[in-house]
Amino acid sequence: MAYKIVEKRQLVPDVHLMNIEAPDVAAAAKPGQFIILRIDEEGERIPLTIADYDVDEGFVTIIFQEMGKTTKQLAKMAAGDELQDFVGPLGKASEIEKIGTVVLVGGGVGIAPVYPQARAYREIGNKVISIIGARNESLLILEDEMNAVSDELLVATDDGSKGHHGFVTDLVKELLDGDEKIDRIVAIGPPIMMRAVAGVTDPYDVETIVSLNPIMVDGTGMCGGCRVNIGGETKFACVDGPEFNAKDVDFNLLMSRLSLYRKEEMESLETYKKGCGDDCKCQ
Ligand SMILES: Cc1cc2nc3c(=O)[nH]c(=O)nc-3n(C[C@H](O)[C@H](O)[C@H](O)COP(=O)(O)OP(=O)(O)OC[C@H]3O[C@@H](n4cnc5c(N)ncnc54)[C@H](O)[C@@H]3O)c2cc1C
Ligand code: FES
Repeated sequence: MAYKIVEKRQLVPDVHLMNIEAPDVAAAAKPGQFIILRIDEEGERIPLTIADYDVDEGFVTIIFQEMGKTTKQLAKMAAGDELQDFVGPLGKASEIEKIGTVVLVGGGVGIAPVYPQARAYREIGNKVISIIGARNESLLILEDEMNAVSDELLVATDDGSKGHHGFVTDLVKELLDGDEKIDRIVAIGPPIMMRAVAGVTDPYDVETIVSLNPIMVDGTGMCGGCRVNIGGETKFACVDGPEFNAKDVDFNLLMSRLSLYRKEEMESLETYKKGCGDDCKCQ
């Protein structure tokens, strides 16, 4: 079975949104889950979070950043093209419950998985304060969408081109030091950002959830590729997660395992670029 790309657009440089026709996945999807796709028979399997889904129209939205060979190859595809595999929904859904005030923190392309959670928390009556951040204004995604599903939206950019000049963690700390009682924090972004959020919230004893992104292969708990250390125990992020309590996560191990295949990934990208032809936009 092939999965048709029904819409494709670039959100900011190197970050793209695609709607993929996959009615069964859309019907079963919940915030926090992900899919694994393969472009063609020879393709690598890559996991991407379900950024949104439309049960009536039968499509699933993915938002991805160009990183290496597969995401660059995907970025060159257009509406009407088809993917070989689109498997999901995988992983445990986020535990969305009515608890009071929830702070959702999204960094870079991590704003995409935060969006459906913000909407779901708000729909059942929580107060949602969202904090989104990027290196600069031109790399900030889904600002209008996040605004629409948040009671309050705070923006941080590393260079100060929009909102707070600094990191999302500064805004998290300001909120924690303020008068409002915060009941839960959900942070999704690069591991270094999630580790920093975990460090900031730790002394405050506020439940903090992060979504881990280790290397995944099968996505079904069989290969062991996605193993992470949670509170001293080995867990498989694809079936036990991807969300975990931040205070239990060994972020240093996660980050060192993410770079295990860097040499092979670089070689694969170089080979891909050589075969690209004159119109190559991979650089
Ligand atoms: C549960 C989960 C959800 C994710 N959701 C998103 C998302 O919504 N948007 C997004 O842009 N990215 C997401 N990622 C990361 C995305 O899977 C990688 O960027 C992608 O696999 C890179 O593949 P590549 O061939 O382009 O790059 P490569 O050159 O192969 O790798 C670049 C880097 O991406 C990571 N990576 C490579 N292969 C994998 C793999 N099989 N599984 C996980 N990470 C890998 C490694 O850190 C690697 O160093 C998610 C990862 C996980 C585990
Ligand atoms: S990806 Fe294979 S066990 Fe999780």
